[in-house]
Amino acid sequence: MKETLTIALPKGRIQKDTEKIFSNAGITIPKKENSDDRRLIFENKEDNLRFMIVRAQDVPTYIEFGAADIGIAGSDVLIEQGRDLYEPLDLKIGKCRLSVAEPVELKKSDNPGNWTHIRVATKYPNITKKYFSDKGIQTELIKLYGSIELAPILGLSERIVDLVETGETMRQNGLIEVETIMEVSSRLIVNRASLKTKPKRVKSLVEKLSKVI
Ligand code: PRP
Repeated sequence: MKETLTIALPKGRIQKDTEKIFSNAGITIPKKENSDDRRLIFENKEDNLRFMIVRAQDVPTYIEFGAADIGIAGSDVLIEQGRDLYEPLDLKIGKCRLSVAEPVELKKSDNPGNWTHIRVATKYPNITKKYFSDKGIQTELIKLYGSIELAPILGLSERIVDLVETGETMRQNGLIEVETIMEVSSRLIVNRASLKTKPKRVKSLVEKLSKVI
């Protein structure tokens, strides 16, 4: 009997692409039976896999502590959280970028080269602080958990650091990107102990997935 592998997948945007990658690799992620199905763990008995669907920001926590063996997380979340994980594969889904943005009106008279102290709203305080401090710019950070584009509209901060995929959210909220901090994509992550305790199972899954991306 194969040992069970527990896989933590993030809810939301990349869920469809994730299901596609697994299905192309010949692995079924069991689905909810109906809209009342509130189970959080789904078993694929055939392959001895357990899937859990959790908040994107929580995936690295489950993996680092060994509650799950393998997971998928954005490179943005991984860098922000700085956890000790093995990261064998870029899945090339969930592609976007992390950018600094400000109101279109402000941009007309603004020069980022002259910034010395700025107030920034973001979900990514660690990345933002480091990015600006490397440039010698002091930041007053306002941590938000979503809808970051609201901050300049309501005067919470003039600048934001947030993800941009199509650019539509920024455009519709009167914002424009001024600098790109990093390109982002989803990564396969593995618990370091699982690599040693279930090496064959982990390796086989990584190989199957790597063949289809
Ligand atoms: C993300 C991100 C932007 C938006 C970018 O938000 O934070 O708001 O998507 O996408 P676009 O460039 O294609 O418009 P998400 O939908 O995850 O919700 P959130 O704002 O609550 O984090």
